Amino acid sequence: TLVRISDDALAIACGADEVADAFAKAGCTVERVSSWGMHWLEPLAEIDGEGFGPLNAADVAAVLAGDSDKSIGRIEDHPFIAKQQRFTFARAGKTRPLSLDDYAEHGGWLGLAKAREIGAAATIARVTESGLRGRGGAGFPAGIKWNTVAGAVADHKYIVCNADEGDSATFADRMVMEGDPFMLIEGMAIAALAVGAHMGYVYIRSEYPHAIAKMEAAVRASAHIVAPFVIEVRTGAGAYVCGEETSLLNSLEGKRGEVRAKPPLPALEGLFGKPTVVNNVLTLAAVPWIMANGAQAYAAVGLGRSRGTMPIQLAGNVKHGGLFEVGFGVTLGELVMTIGGGTASGRPVRAVQVGGPLGAYHPPAEFHLPFDYEAFAANDGLIGHAGLTVFDDTADMSAQARFAMNFCAVESCGKCTPCRIGSTRGVELIDRIRARAGRAPDKVEALPQMHNARKVERSLGDEITLLEDLCETMKFGSLCALGGFTPYPVLSALRHWPEDFGA
Ligand code: NAI
Ligand code: SF4
Repeated sequence: TLVRISDDALAIACGADEVADAFAKAGCTVERVSSWGMHWLEPLAEIDGEGFGPLNAADVAAVLAGDSDKSIGRIEDHPFIAKQQRFTFARAGKTRPLSLDDYAEHGGWLGLAKAREIGAAATIARVTESGLRGRGGAGFPAGIKWNTVAGAVADHKYIVCNADEGDSATFADRMVMEGDPFMLIEGMAIAALAVGAHMGYVYIRSEYPHAIAKMEAAVRASAHIVAPFVIEVRTGAGAYVCGEETSLLNSLEGKRGEVRAKPPLPALEGLFGKPTVVNNVLTLAAVPWIMANGAQAYAAVGLGRSRGTMPIQLAGNVKHGGLFEVGFGVTLGELVMTIGGGTASGRPVRAVQVGGPLGAYHPPAEFHLPFDYEAFAANDGLIGHAGLTVFDDTADMSAQARFAMNFCAVESCGKCTPCRIGSTRGVELIDRIRARAGRAPDKVEALPQMHNARKVERSLGDEITLLEDLCETMKFGSLCALGGFTPYPVLSALRHWPEDFGA
């Protein structure tokens, strides 16, 4: 019997290795494949298309005897999979991540072949026509960025893949690198051909050891295919801000991960001062599909200016957590309630944070919002890297606001004043507001004591106005998104749940 089980880090954390061993001991042939992205069912085993999960080693005998109550039926018919439009994750669950044969048999390298056939200018035109926008969060059109780099005159150009996936609730980059690493390599090779770069770097966060190992192995195995383009893997050192493109470049250069002022744009003066494409994993990973299937096929899906699909990541207190790739336009409510199945605790949803620790908290009253860059921006939010963290009605939203401010204080690179000082003052201010409301200051992540010695008596209203003013200053005075977007979670919590602030 051929049994397929994922070797993705999440599946392993859930016990996939033990389940795989149990099948092997029972005489089965076990293939370790990528994950389908149905995380609540991991470890998930597939036999002849049928899925069984979540399994532990003791379930194996019943599965093989045909009387397991863990069957979920045909995996591809499961509503969580059947409802998706998988372009980037088309191979998820189906191929062995480091098998060049599996990759080629499932459409691998067709995009690179097409790019080689039509040349650099037509490749950039195709990516531009597809409407592909940067998937790191800002949504800048990839084709326009590539065009800027292609047009720059320089002796060296670089492709830098941002795999410093630091947002809460996000794991799509990790799944690409662990499950389909050749797709990312192919995307980078296409970008290199398009802009005239000979060298590429994948900057991966140190918290992703499995992804680092897979990418290193995949880079070695495919070096002859992408030559003369050369790729190297680099590991971060644990700073959230190194996901910001200019601090990432500093880190790659061996410097302190501090944000650089823009301009100059990295597209013109990036790594080592040379024109550089900095794209997120998902942006580059979308390119092979676009090259192979055409710009129109990609652009046909989506909403407004958000074209194509987005691999949305459902996490937090949600019943069906996992990766859901679908065309832009799906509503927040459908994602959380229908696809995610509501909270894992069974309690009512109170808030959903979209876009990582810098994203706004949305109440169920905003569940009509379509997943689209512009729709979220118009509602004082952002889709970011498309991570959703679900909270039930036990969540304390002023504590969440404090968490956001404290996150900024801890992760600030220190370059600009609104973020470096403002975030610390913000934590103190939220603590004072919470203390009035009878909510204890968080002891867990208490900041070094920097409280004003002076005791100022202010009304609650004045304190809240001060917090709003501070957020305004951070929003418009910060150099990068860390300080600039921290006000989103803080102000959204204050606006939608004033009772948690004692107001
Ligand atoms: P940005 O708007 O300054 O730039 C977007 C991209 O377009 C950059 O790569 C920039 O260099 C490039 N660009 C702008 N004009 C260009 C031109 N004329 N030619 C070529 N390239 C050009 O946004 P930024 O600061 O890079 O990113 C902010 C976003 O990052 C936020 O929207 C947030 O959602 C997201 N974010 C993502 C995180 C993650 O873990 N993925 C973490 C934190 C924030
Ligand atoms: Fe650094 Fe914060 Fe300023 Fe960004 S906003 S440059 S992280 S101090």
